[in-house]
Parts: sequence; structure tokens; C-alpha cells
Amino acid sequence: MIKKVVVGLGNRSYPIWIGQDILPVLGQVLKEHDFPKQVAVISNPTVGQLYAPQVVESLTKSGLKVSVINIPDGEQYKTIETLTQIYDVLIERRFDRYTGLVALGGGVIGDITGFAAATYLRGIPFVQVPTTLLSQVDSSVGGKTGVNHAQGKNLIGAFYQPSHVHIDVNVLKSLSDRDFSSGVAEVVKYGIIRDKTFFEWLELHRDGLLHRDAELLVDAIMMSCQIKANVVENDEREQNLRAILNLGHTFGHAVETLSGYGVIKHGEAVSIGMVMAARTAHHLQICSQHDVNRILRLLEHFNLPVNPPEFSAAEYSAVMTHDKKVKDGQVRLVLNHGIGNAKLHHVDNLEELLDGLLN
Ligand code: NAD
Ligand code: GLY
Repeated sequence: MIKKVVVGLGNRSYPIWIGQDILPVLGQVLKEHDFPKQVAVISNPTVGQLYAPQVVESLTKSGLKVSVINIPDGEQYKTIETLTQIYDVLIERRFDRYTGLVALGGGVIGDITGFAAATYLRGIPFVQVPTTLLSQVDSSVGGKTGVNHAQGKNLIGAFYQPSHVHIDVNVLKSLSDRDFSSGVAEVVKYGIIRDKTFFEWLELHRDGLLHRDAELLVDAIMMSCQIKANVVENDEREQNLRAILNLGHTFGHAVETLSGYGVIKHGEAVSIGMVMAARTAHHLQICSQHDVNRILRLLEHFNLPVNPPEFSAAEYSAVMTHDKKVKDGQVRLVLNHGIGNAKLHHVDNLEELLDGLLN
């Protein structure tokens, strides 16, 4: 059975299809929705060798003309140089305004393909076929696209919504344990920021989810996408509400930067960051110790790290004051109010606060 979530953005609204073994119907779905007949599937060798044949077969069977463009696997290739290679191939293969792109891979592939689609010939349609849990519940939804710059992650990009998101939970079987857990951190995040009942559901089904039970995964992904869609519908360009999706991210980015990129995965850093946020919230008396413990226990159950690596408060503070979320020189942190609600808070005494958290 295929489940559907809609991201309602007026004439840029789009469906997210979620199900088990639905890669084979991708071509049919695109055909029914008048997606361009000539497409390029953008992937990498890791994902491509596992799933590109199925995707190409499905698209070809539905009458689409398909090329595949492989880019190297890894965050270090989410760059302008790789983007240029994609443009080069599209131009060489004479892709015109009536063509489209299919992003087949994790968040790196989704972000770079989305940005290529946003900018090639001033914009062509694209579809997200996310293959990591993190990309299925987060990066493929909401239209943030882009590449990294030597000075920082995601500094070059655009808001550009896909035409469809096509999520097959079967592909998660081949994902490494660390990448799977990394995605679960973002799922837990949705419960903490927006939906206490969902958090309780995650506590109840934590064993089944850890064992990647397909039906539970479909439900968890659907509920996560529903929450993200609702936030994006209310604040597409992150003027206010959308910032809550960054719970744990300001702390988390500092963890990633201080540890050296690639050592700690994004979701792992978010897990540590969410615990730091919950402890800060407890310090400010907006979250009980009981709720801090529940968050900690759930993350630990999913084999996620919860303790910050050992750096000084001054080192954390220096990185956090350079975060994208800093406004007018003031650090703003998303903090959870208990479980099921979160808000952006201004912090003036960051180093003092961190001193308390780290000791
Ligand atoms: P990733 O894309 O690097 O994928 C992780 C690894 O898993 C890669 O080696 C990949 O090739 C491999 N892989 C992917 N699917 C697989 C599968 N089914 N089986 C086996 N291996 C598979 O990392 P990610 O965690 O998916 O995404 C991280 C990226 O997403 C970062 O660049 C981050 O900035 C971005 N991101 C974007 C948003 C957004 O809103 N656009 C949100 C969160 C994260
Ligand atoms: N991943 C945060 C956002 O989409 O806004």
C-alpha cells in the first residue's frame, strides 16, 4: 500500500509517496503527472549499482528517455566543481527546458541535484528518490537545495521544491547501521519539536524500528514528512517557524566542526546537540528532568551518541557564534519546551551556559 503526504504550497504543491517496494512504479507515477519525457538520473556508484537498474527500467518502461549521471560518493563532492560536471553532461546531451532530473541517493545527491535543477536553464523540474532514512524524512522534503563552500556547509543554494518525492523503504535494507541511526535522530527530532504523541509512539515501537520493520518505517516516515510538510507550508523560507527544524543543529554543527568533518555523522551530531538543547531547556526550567531522561534514553536505544566530545566551552562557543543561525551577532538556539514543542531562544551568556553543560 502506498501512503501519501502533500506539501501544500499553492501551485508548487507536491506529493510525497511512501511505501514498500515502490521503486518499480516510479515511471508510471511520473507519466501520470506529466513529468518531462527526457530525464537524467543523478546518482553515485554506491547507490547506482544497487538501485539505478530498477529505476532506469521503470522509467524506460513508461516511455521515458533516460540517461544516468554518476557523481562521486561523499559530502566532500557536494561542491560547485561537481555541479559544473553535471551541467557539462546536461549541455553535452542537449537537455532542454522540457527535460527533468531524478535525484537517486541520500541527502548529498538530493541537495546537489535540486540545485542543478534550480539553476540549469533557469530551472527544470526534478524528483527526489531519497535512499537514506535521513533524506527520506528530512532533506528530500521542503526544497532546500545547494552545495558546500570551502568556508562552510550549504553556503551556496536555493529554495527550489521538487515535483514529487518517491520513498521506498526497501532501499533502507542496504543502509549501514550508522547511517540508519543517523536518520533516526531526525525522526526523534520531529516528536520533540512538534508531536508528543509521535514521540510516545516512537518509544513504544523502538525495538521494531531498530530492526527496520518495513510497516513501522512507512508509518514513521509518513508522520515525519507530515510534520515537516506542515512546518514548511507555514514558513517555506525560514523566516520564523521553520527554524525549529534545527533543534540540536547549532550545537550539532559545533560538534561536527570541532571533531573534523566526517568523523561524526550529521544525525549523530544532531543527537548530541538535542541532548545539549534539552539540558539547556532544563536549566531554563522549560523542560523537566524526566523529559530530558526520556529523550536521552530513546536516542541511546537507537545507538546514537548523546555526550559531547571533549572540547572546552570556549571552543564550542567560538564555533557556535559563527553559525548561520546567528542574527545581529546574537546566538539563537532552538530549545524544546518539554516534549512536543520547541521555540527559538536568544542566548547572551553562551560560554557560561556551555560551561555549566559541559562540566
Ligand atoms: P549521504 O547522502 O552522504 O549518504 C550517506 C551514505 O549512504 C553515502 O555513502 C551514500 O552513498 C550511502 N547510501 C545512500 N543510500 C543508500 C542505500 N540505500 N544503501 C546503502 N548505502 C546508501 O548522507 P545523508 O545522511 O543521506 O545526507 C546528508 C546530507 O544531507 C548533507 O549534505 C546535509 O547537508 C544534507 N541535508 C540537507 C537537508 C535539506 O533540507 N536539504 C536536511 C538535512 C541534511
Ligand atoms: N533541515 C532543515 C530544514 O529543512 O529547514
